[in-house]
Amino acid sequence: MADLILGQVLSFAGNPFHDGPAAARHETHGAVLVQDGLIADVGPADTLRARHPTARIHDHGRALISAGFIDAHVHYPQTAIIASWGKRLIDWLNQYTFPEEMRFADPAYATVIAGRYMDLALAHGTTSMCSYATIHPTSVDAFFTAAQSRKMRAWTGKTCMDRNAPEGLRDTAQSAYDDSKSLLNKWHGQDRLSYVITPRFSPTSTPEQLHALGALWAEYPACLMQTHLSEQVDEIAWVRDLHPQSRDYLDTYESQGLLRPGAVFGHSIHLTPREIARLTEVGAALVHCPTSNTFIGSGLFDMTLATTLRVGLATDTGGGSSFSMLHTMAAAYEVAQLRGQALHPAHLMWLATVGSARALMADHQIGNIAVGMEADLTILNLASTPAIEQATRRADDIWQALFPTIMLGDDRAIAAVWVAGRPVG
Ligand code: GUN
Ligand code: ZN
Repeated sequence: MADLILGQVLSFAGNPFHDGPAAARHETHGAVLVQDGLIADVGPADTLRARHPTARIHDHGRALISAGFIDAHVHYPQTAIIASWGKRLIDWLNQYTFPEEMRFADPAYATVIAGRYMDLALAHGTTSMCSYATIHPTSVDAFFTAAQSRKMRAWTGKTCMDRNAPEGLRDTAQSAYDDSKSLLNKWHGQDRLSYVITPRFSPTSTPEQLHALGALWAEYPACLMQTHLSEQVDEIAWVRDLHPQSRDYLDTYESQGLLRPGAVFGHSIHLTPREIARLTEVGAALVHCPTSNTFIGSGLFDMTLATTLRVGLATDTGGGSSFSMLHTMAAAYEVAQLRGQALHPAHLMWLATVGSARALMADHQIGNIAVGMEADLTILNLASTPAIEQATRRADDIWQALFPTIMLGDDRAIAAVWVAGRPVG
């Protein structure tokens, strides 16, 4: 039986970084027909009601039906240490992250946190994510099992580190290759799951390990590869010391076969002109993590890069300070303001949906509302708190009605979530 979801509907016919807000499509009294896990029809509510008279109706009134949010860079193992006070990236990793990630040697703990993380993500309207796991293969199993049981489209990979990490959190070039390969063969393409080759970042991998993972990627070119790039200035200086043979941070990856269109680079704040030119030429993707970049004091991402590169949006939990992609959009807006770039709500919603889907090369499957796309939907109550409700009373259009929810909203704004054509919860 088909389900007909009624409400305001927001979708994208183009890229707002090229076409401005006109790239968005808004239907005030709209409808989305969902059948067999896919979006089967979209249009005005009256038309769809007449066309599909037997469909089960879910009337959300004035709420806004959006594609589900996609978090393009998250560390699910850091769920329990989100909002830990810290100084700079490397201190924060050593003080909070590595001790917490050590606990994932226990598969039972990994299972608890993976389930907790998935439920938090869904409660915040995030229907897909690309996560780092820990060094432990069972942390990948825990994540994929949690996503699979919820029928979510999700990505993760074993986080590889063979130096500058504590005993118990280090692998080797060979074991990183072997473990990644066997996890890839076990999980990649199962249901809606995809394996991502995941060297953590150049400070914690030797050139030998990066080379081994480059060789693995050459064997499985359809996979994505994710890592961190140029997040903090002192991190970049450290990379220069650790990889003296490389021209710059990007070259530590490029020289080992880790720069191709399926490469997804988190943060990417302090890029050199050569790095930007090379990333653009290759067609790699960047992921903006604005709450993390302010929380850890990393810097201000240059959003003009979104005009020429694929750019996704992400929480970077737990370096990021929120599970909410609404908060993340608000932070992206504020960071852009500090760089003199005013992002329209159309840019923000696009980044959290289509933009992240494109960064993960999945925009033919998720991230938009169109016939044939997978039915992952997030339905936003645009008056979820008294503060938001009063700010929307004089709204003249959908953007004025939506922006207070972007700036002030949280999980209370999530009226409903659909995953693979089924309502969650
Ligand atoms: N760089 C390498 N690992 C991490 C991490 O876990 N969080 C953040 N924010 N940056 C990183
Ligand atoms: Zn990260």
